[in-house]
Amino acid sequence: MKLNTLHLDNYRNYESITLDCHPEVNILIGENAQGKTNLLESIYTLALAKSHRTSNDKELIRFSSDYAKIESELSYRYGVMPLTMYITKKGKQVKINHLEQSRLTQYIGHLNVVLFAPEDLNIVKGSPQIRRKFIDMELGQISAVYLNDLSQYQRILKQKNNYLKQLQYGNKTDSTMLEVLNQQFAEYALKVMQRRAHFINELESLARPIHSGITDNRETLVLKYMPSMKLDFTNKTETERLEDVLTILNDNKEREMDRAVCLYGPHRDDLGFNINEMDAQIYGSQGQQRTTALSIKLAEIELMNIEVGEYPVLLLDDVLSELDNSRQTHLLSTIQHKVQTFVTTTSVDGIDHEIMKNAKLFQIKQGEIIK
Ligand SMILES: Nc1ncnc2c1ncn2[C@@H]1O[C@H](COP(=O)(O)OP(=O)(O)OP(=O)(O)O)[C@@H](O)[C@H]1O
Ligand SMILES: [Mg+2]
Repeated sequence: MKLNTLHLDNYRNYESITLDCHPEVNILIGENAQGKTNLLESIYTLALAKSHRTSNDKELIRFSSDYAKIESELSYRYGVMPLTMYITKKGKQVKINHLEQSRLTQYIGHLNVVLFAPEDLNIVKGSPQIRRKFIDMELGQISAVYLNDLSQYQRILKQKNNYLKQLQYGNKTDSTMLEVLNQQFAEYALKVMQRRAHFINELESLARPIHSGITDNRETLVLKYMPSMKLDFTNKTETERLEDVLTILNDNKEREMDRAVCLYGPHRDDLGFNINEMDAQIYGSQGQQRTTALSIKLAEIELMNIEVGEYPVLLLDDVLSELDNSRQTHLLSTIQHKVQTFVTTTSVDGIDHEIMKNAKLFQIKQGEIIK
């Protein structure tokens, strides 16, 4: 899928702009704080109905305005379709083909994006939260069912946390309510865990050959899902699995009551990376971490194509110049002529000449496109 046009009204530092996008590479060039990331963020927001930089939608509205609008015409293999998002201080509204959508879970997935930003280079060594966000962002775009299960899980997690806090000051002897909550908690926790496990397997099968390619077969990458509930589900029925999850929760009731917080569940999951059988999080060099980040981003792109039947739009925020020539070449060969890409940079100096050939340049200054 590709963006034919992108129109912004009152989004961040943009008053009103329209971009006629290039089907291959769009380079957004400008000095610091001019609005390059804001523009990529608007595409990300249109895709996922939330920003990657803030959970407060109000920040997206231009100072002194009371609404922001992001509008785009997308082209798919089988035609074109407009997507629109209005953000007001009270909430947001999304439209597919000019028809308002009442549920975001049904809206998300129409525009697929893969974002690669400097903080992604930290995916191996950074906090588990970064890795969970990575999983949710990708999986949420390809599976509306996952998105729905995850939001149900988060709702119950919040309820259970609130209840555990209340218990701290009240009666700890009656835990019937906690068992009721655990029953629902287990149901959605299991759904989320199973989908994550499956996803990580798929991603690994794609990332492994890419990683070998980048390292001239010197390195073998292995991804490992590390759920906070350590369970062995092999040869077990769905009912037995649910029982196993519930057992962990109920066995740890006292601990959770003491700590007044949910200690087990997908909100504490993690993802590990092994390179040649060594834990890259502990021992990986900076170069190995970069290669790993690139391999999984490229795998994400391929996985989306497999699952959705269309390549996603790639958003590269300031990372191209962070990658050396050989890594840029690998990136290039994956995206070439297939994946529409938006790249931000302060200078074209560090960018591969091949990438520049099929590209349109937009110079951005103080929220305006000057050429
Ligand atoms: N809601 C808003 N209304 C108006 N301006 C905003 C709003 N939010 C952010 N800005 C402005 O946007 C600018 C930052 O834009 P952005 O992050 O896109 O910069 P950039 O071009 O990516 O810079 P860098 O090269 O440093 O990454 C800041 O100067 C900030 O004041
Ligand atoms: Mg920026």
